[in-house]
Amino acid sequence: MATDTKPRAGEQRTDEVIEQLNLMVATAADLRSQVKQAHWTVVGPNFIALHKLFDEQALVLLAHVDLYAERVRALEGIPAGTVRNAAANSPLQELPIEEIPEIEAINLLVDRWEQYSDGLGHAMKQAEEAEDMSTQDIFIEGQRAADLQAYFLRSHLPTKKR
Ligand SMILES: [Fe+2]
Repeated sequence: MATDTKPRAGEQRTDEVIEQLNLMVATAADLRSQVKQAHWTVVGPNFIALHKLFDEQALVLLAHVDLYAERVRALEGIPAGTVRNAAANSPLQELPIEEIPEIEAINLLVDRWEQYSDGLGHAMKQAEEAEDMSTQDIFIEGQRAADLQAYFLRSHLPTKKR
């Protein structure tokens, strides 16, 4: 432990990385709850395919939350992963609390997966600036998964609507 109480440049950079990780904890936890909401409320001829896909996406996001939160602990920070913290810190818009026709549900979730992907893109640049390649690798993995899930969703839309 350093005896100097002034934060060193490296420690300050680590604080910024922890902040980005916590932002992704909040975003992924919020998106997980929204995907689960759509799992319950989507309606239409492809109900069962989407109901199952949304459940798989919820599991992907739960794994992301865990990955980011445990990286925060590895950096000796504190994750803020409760529902209240996620709601307060996530940049995502709320999903309508009603039955959602399938095309609308897909479009709403594509928007949110893309926003999550953009957030991860920003976070990975911050991690690079902090020279924390291990955290950057986690964000890259998250973005690759987010882009894949957005593609799975878009593939349910008729070509002209994409
Ligand atoms: Fe279920």
